[in-house]
Amino acid sequence: MSRVPMFAANWKMNKALREVTPFVQGLKAGVQGLPGIPYEVVLGPQAIHLVSLTQAVPGTGWKVAAQNCGTAKSGAFTAEISPVALKEVGVEYVIVGHSERRHVYGEKDSLVLARLKAAVDEDLKVILCVGEKLEERKAGKTFSVVDTQLGILNGLSLGAQLVIAYEPVWAIGTGENATPEQAQEVHAYIRKALGAAGATTRILYGGSVKAENAASLMSQPDVDGFLVGGASLEPGSFAGVIKNGLQSRT
Ligand code: PGA
Repeated sequence: MSRVPMFAANWKMNKALREVTPFVQGLKAGVQGLPGIPYEVVLGPQAIHLVSLTQAVPGTGWKVAAQNCGTAKSGAFTAEISPVALKEVGVEYVIVGHSERRHVYGEKDSLVLARLKAAVDEDLKVILCVGEKLEERKAGKTFSVVDTQLGILNGLSLGAQLVIAYEPVWAIGTGENATPEQAQEVHAYIRKALGAAGATTRILYGGSVKAENAASLMSQPDVDGFLVGGASLEPGSFAGVIKNGLQSRT
């Protein structure tokens, strides 16, 4: 299988500057001695720490992700961050469509698409987040919600620039993760919906991932890694997610 497991940290609006380098040191120590199989680590700090983090990761092979990206190269867009500037400082990934952007800040699919396009135009890779709210799941609308959110990809051919993160909104930050079976069901659906690209596109699961549930979630055939919030804030717990997640790949 050509899909390299991926472990992405979404630090959200957390961490002080002084914590950035110690985190990198701590994670280096935490992943020492892991089986020598390929896997990818991506760290997503708040924007103000992107430069520091890109300066702290060389030698690790880890990538840096921005949590957002402006819709144009430059211009009168107060508080937005240009994809050109992201690229310039060594960012490789951009998270788009996170549920907190969609549901706290009201970002619509059209805006998610504009951000995604601006990012890929600068050769950035994107982690496109999709996922249903609890009431949508209860109403049997999970697949249709995901379908609509994936609809922005129609007509685009992003190849390896695209990673999908399935993050059921009811599982984010709640301590209640999707069961491995629930995750697998939606991941398989997404992979099919992606058509020919599905075979090689990584689909991450996100929502209350921690060291304790990483092995069982990752043992599902269509779960290629994780987008991790709370458990990515401490190097020890994030290393635990990576270690246990890789168990099923060894
Ligand atoms: P969580 O967040 O791991 O804290 O649930 C995941 C996310 O929002 O990406």
